[in-house]
Amino acid sequence: MVTAKVWVLKKHFEGFPKPSDFDLKKIELPSLQNGELLLESVFLSVDPYMRPYSQRDMKEGDIMIGTQVARIVESKNPAFAVGAFVVANSGWRSHFISDGKGLHLLPSSWPESLPKSLALGTVGMPGLTAYFGLFEVCKMKPGETVLVNAAAGAVGSVVGQLAKIGGCKVVGCAGSDDKVAYLKKLGFDEAFNYKTVTSLDEALSKASPDGYDCFFDNVGGEFSSVAINHMKKHGRIAVCGAISQYNDSVPQKGPYVQIPMIFKELRMEGFIVTRWNNRREEGQKALLKWVLEVRREGVIFFTVYLHHGLPLCKGGSLVVAGEVRSWYDFLLSDVIFEPFEDTQTILNMPDAFHFTETCDTSLWS
Ligand SMILES: NC(=O)c1ccc[n+]([C@@H]2O[C@H](COP(=O)([O-])OP(=O)(O)OC[C@H]3O[C@@H](n4cnc5c(N)ncnc54)[C@H](OP(=O)(O)O)[C@@H]3O)[C@@H](O)[C@H]2O)c1
Repeated sequence: MVTAKVWVLKKHFEGFPKPSDFDLKKIELPSLQNGELLLESVFLSVDPYMRPYSQRDMKEGDIMIGTQVARIVESKNPAFAVGAFVVANSGWRSHFISDGKGLHLLPSSWPESLPKSLALGTVGMPGLTAYFGLFEVCKMKPGETVLVNAAAGAVGSVVGQLAKIGGCKVVGCAGSDDKVAYLKKLGFDEAFNYKTVTSLDEALSKASPDGYDCFFDNVGGEFSSVAINHMKKHGRIAVCGAISQYNDSVPQKGPYVQIPMIFKELRMEGFIVTRWNNRREEGQKALLKWVLEVRREGVIFFTVYLHHGLPLCKGGSLVVAGEVRSWYDFLLSDVIFEPFEDTQTILNMPDAFHFTETCDTSLWS
């Protein structure tokens, strides 16, 4: 008999999430039936989509939605061998039983030395979002200029790097000077701190006086209202996210898009990465190849957020780049928690952002 620990949404978020919005519960899992397998979560991801999706799809008392890398610990399903790793969409649980539907085995070409947490980041859903958003929605071409916001994030950092690899000029912006320095390291041609520039309008003009062919929009709101005026004629805008609005209780009002859309003959398209579920393997293969090949040349970097031990410990705090933050701050940003092992490889990687935890890990052991 295995006891699973699960995090339940006790109360829908109002504004920013709080620890009291969650409850840790224990569930006894039954024995496996034929065709089933038992899995143990090794990495859990916390992503911005959880804000709008929890509001739309969850009721209070449900297990929190989320994706994990999980190890198969027992199997009565011949398609899944014990010891293999999969990406699952089973929410915040330490253990769970599956009939195999919806599980994605890590590609067989995944090197042992590559952190499996990347299957939730650069080589996972955020990387695929960047890949399909750039190639299918923006239809980026070599020689073009690409603008991306929330550029140091899980999606934005891959957008910038793929656009560079694809022969584009890349402009990114982020909310701190450290992140801007990180973008420069990633190879962005221009990067600025949108919180400290005196005028966003001027900063966008200075970074690309001729304007932008592609705008990969992760933020929405005021930023996008300014950026749309900097598009070139026939520019393409991929509306990926609207993180500036996810915590609003009162909807924002903004300038309307029609005039620049008409006069510049723009194309603006919203998308959800699951549209390309049938091409997931292709995208993941391409991302894995880039990570392995390009990284060897010392060009590509990825952001890895680490948490040794309990991902969601009540009252725990995390130290990020010297700044102490509560774990629930990270519901606003992409975090990969590593509850169990294999931390040293990632800690040894240069140029990744890390955080170390200061909270009690005993609840997971
Ligand atoms: N359409 C899809 O299928 C799809 C898939 C994945 C993600 N997304 C969306 O893509 C966006 C980025 O996701 P991600 O996983 O890359 O996120 P992430 O790694 O968690 O990065 C999020 C970053 O957004 C910035 N941000 C937060 N609040 C903001 C605000 N009020 N105004 C401006 N910037 C803000 C912060 O960076 P700074 O410090 O730089 O401000 C934050 O670190 C999100 O909107 C997410 O919902 C969409």
